[in-house]
Amino acid sequence: MSQHYGILAYPAKHSLSPIMHNAAFKALKIDAKYGIIELKPEYLTEFIKEVKAMPIDGLSVSMPFKEAIIPFMTRISVDAARIGAVNTVINKKGVLLGENSDFIGAIMALKEGVKNLKGKRAVVIGAGGAARAVAYGLLKEGADVMILNRTKNKAVQIAMEFAELFKSQIYAGDLEHLEDGDILINTSSIWHTDNLDDMMLPSFCNPAYIAKFGLVMDIAYKPYITPLIEAAQFAGVPFIMGDRMLLHQAAVQFELWTGQKAPIEVMGRALHKALFA
Ligand code: ATR
Repeated sequence: MSQHYGILAYPAKHSLSPIMHNAAFKALKIDAKYGIIELKPEYLTEFIKEVKAMPIDGLSVSMPFKEAIIPFMTRISVDAARIGAVNTVINKKGVLLGENSDFIGAIMALKEGVKNLKGKRAVVIGAGGAARAVAYGLLKEGADVMILNRTKNKAVQIAMEFAELFKSQIYAGDLEHLEDGDILINTSSIWHTDNLDDMMLPSFCNPAYIAKFGLVMDIAYKPYITPLIEAAQFAGVPFIMGDRMLLHQAAVQFELWTGQKAPIEVMGRALHKALFA
């Protein structure tokens, strides 16, 4: 019997997840389909009731459901609970397991640039849901984290919450007071604007600042080359683009659902093709 998976989001139409997962299923000859479930947030309760009864084996969960879906899970992993977000659901005959593959995806992407994160100092821009996952992953790997956010309070809140969980240090600040480090990561949605070309570049994109780091990562993949990545190129600092985290978190989901090693090359090629279509 064929397996069914899907991305639950609103809006969901432009998701790149179906392309990656369907390519993986095809490559491994797994009889499964991965579709798009675009759901208005007010229908979440009804939808979850149906999921338990429907032949849906797993879900990817995106905005705005990553937090809202938690109460509906039978169990969630410790990591997902601490991050406060579920982006992966495994349906075992109506028992819903919630996981978070974002933080692992972020770490796997970073490890393409730096083998060992222990003792590294990471500066994380942004204090939204994505920042929580990235900061959590970094702390778990033993890196020290400085979260800088336009609204400092939000960064402070994350720092206070996570400080108790890990031996490594977490600090908070605002974007007016930049700090140096080994790794600079943008998790903010600052590039989500209609007039990016006219935007005054934030100070964390200053090449003189970036040159102080050994590695730069932007988790945004639209535009594919973000202003931060462009500045890293200009400063001659190694960088990792947002498609890598997207790919790795999908690969982790695939492995959670199927128990098989994800064909990451195949998924990456499919993703690239879609990004440049
Ligand atoms: P996500 O789940 O993708 O992290 P989010 O929770 O809405 O999205 O968080 C968006 C983050 O991007 C926030 O840290 C936000 O800063 P504020 O907390 O000050 O709102 C940050 N962000 C969005 N637009 C920004 C901009 N123009 N300049 C700086 N930071 C911005």
